[in-house]
Amino acid sequence: MKCRVCRGPAVIDIRRHNANFCREHFLRLCRDQVKRAIDAFDMLQPDDRVLVAVSGGKDSLALWDLLLELGYRVDGFYVGLGIGDYSDTSTDHAVRFARERGLTLHTVDLRRDHGFDVPHGSRAARRNPCSACGLSKRHLFDEAARRGGYDAVATGHNLDDEAAVLFGNVLRWDPEYLGRQRPVLEARDGFPRKVKPLIRLTERETAAYCLLRGIDYLVDECPLSAGNKHLAYKAALNEIEAMSPGAKHAFYFGFLERASERFATESDLGREGLSPCTRCGAPTPGEVCAFCRLVEAATAAVPVELGRRRGSR
Ligand code: FES
Ligand code: ZN
Ligand code: ZN
Repeated sequence: MKCRVCRGPAVIDIRRHNANFCREHFLRLCRDQVKRAIDAFDMLQPDDRVLVAVSGGKDSLALWDLLLELGYRVDGFYVGLGIGDYSDTSTDHAVRFARERGLTLHTVDLRRDHGFDVPHGSRAARRNPCSACGLSKRHLFDEAARRGGYDAVATGHNLDDEAAVLFGNVLRWDPEYLGRQRPVLEARDGFPRKVKPLIRLTERETAAYCLLRGIDYLVDECPLSAGNKHLAYKAALNEIEAMSPGAKHAFYFGFLERASERFATESDLGREGLSPCTRCGAPTPGEVCAFCRLVEAATAAVPVELGRRRGSR
């Protein structure tokens, strides 16, 4: 197996590119793919201050590393979700990555700062844990970006993630979600710009990138995500990709090029009429934002010994 670029010994084959790469040229390919995504969708300007949403997994740590390699000013933001060992280990990976490189990592801990954790809080609020978790993370990333004056929030969604989300949105023909499924959402109404620079890389590639760069990441999947539909969509797309390399890329980028615009007005409609949440100031269509409502419901029935409430530090 020889590298397509230098003919030296290859370390990875990428079937959708119909090519093999040595370490050096694979790392360069990853950087090029990220740069290409950033440029094509006008995600970032060279002097932007970027906040990366870090989970301790391969995608977010690879993203942080790649953006630094490309010369961006990047800090990290981590949310402690209180999901037992999984969260403890993910915190360790995120903190170690930042410390070893002298980087700034901001952290919020749901239990310490908001009085609940995802497993108990979602049960108390009668919500699916993944949706309570996603809502909390989105809210806290937006808030951190706003308070810290960052120009953009970058997330580690890769091609597998985006294709699977698209698959789900198409199965339901959900126009609002389809309209919002863009790799860049411009800043507006108090929301920071959101960008997804890894859309041209698969999760196998971000894992290989971490391995070759010596980045120690959390391999385990979240225990609460077992059985969720997103994983089933990923598995279905993986079978299609195995039969037809490049199908995932064609599915997702075909949508962006030929269909996404058609849903743009639907997503704009969903963002009309926002005003500041009366409790936290975040933009919301109602009086109190969804996160503040979640905090209220999640803490109402949480036993006191679970964690200290906000302000009791
Ligand atoms: Fe959010 Fe698992 S990481 S529910
Ligand atoms: Zn090479
Ligand atoms: Zn609020």
